Amino acid sequence: MHPSQPIGIFDSGMGGLTVAHAVHRLLPNEHLIYFGDTKHLPYGDKSSEAIQQYSFNIVTYLLSRGCKAIVIACNSASTAAGDFLHQRFGHLIPIIKVVDPLVQKVHEMGFRKVGLIATKATTQSGVYQRALEEKVAVHAKATPLLVPMIEEGFTRNHISKAIIEEYLLKPEFNDIDALLLACTHYPLIRSIVEEYLPGVHVLDSTEVTAKALHKTLQEAGLLCQKREQENEFLISDYTETFDQQAQIFFGQDIDLRTLSL
Ligand code: DGL
Repeated sequence: MHPSQPIGIFDSGMGGLTVAHAVHRLLPNEHLIYFGDTKHLPYGDKSSEAIQQYSFNIVTYLLSRGCKAIVIACNSASTAAGDFLHQRFGHLIPIIKVVDPLVQKVHEMGFRKVGLIATKATTQSGVYQRALEEKVAVHAKATPLLVPMIEEGFTRNHISKAIIEEYLLKPEFNDIDALLLACTHYPLIRSIVEEYLPGVHVLDSTEVTAKALHKTLQEAGLLCQKREQENEFLISDYTETFDQQAQIFFGQDIDLRTLSL
């Protein structure tokens, strides 16, 4: 491995861009190769086997591109395929999942009762519940309409507000200390979520994951000191909303290509 090698980041679609953006801000010299598996979106409604297969193909591709680390910028893939990917690729390359840094943050902040919203794949996996429940009461709720809504660009209109209100105004979220946005798409609706839960800490996996990646690369002596290559964005099926969102985060001149795996 060499510091100038790229970092591979993937998600089912545009959600992982929230993590990639945080990585870019913290580590501006790094060359990122982002893969959004828009052809198979949403992951949250798929079986674990299907998510494992998609993730396997993506990591195989990212390895073929010479990546020095992989970030699974998707909670559904981290929970359904994280262990599976570690078993197959963990000896070759560091793999960072979005779950662990968020769990660590909850423990660091000392929260005792948290709400969690995520896809069905993530809530049904029980991964967050198992990681937290010894010390923290967790109220997990699947919110499957949010990813298609966000991918459609509905982040702040009356439809998105009605859906978010329906999901959040529930008795189990009444006296929580924090709400975990356990899907990387959800930071895109963070401001509305905060409006519905005043006084509740809203946590997402963007900056904590970027910091975890920084630590991993630093410890391995793999931090890139000088920017040499532009970031690359690949999607398995073209969607205009991905293109627009990537431009919002990374500027108009992004290198966006379609690659079907
Ligand atoms: N951004 C994703 C996650 O963190 C994937 C959502 C989906 O495709 O269902 O779970």
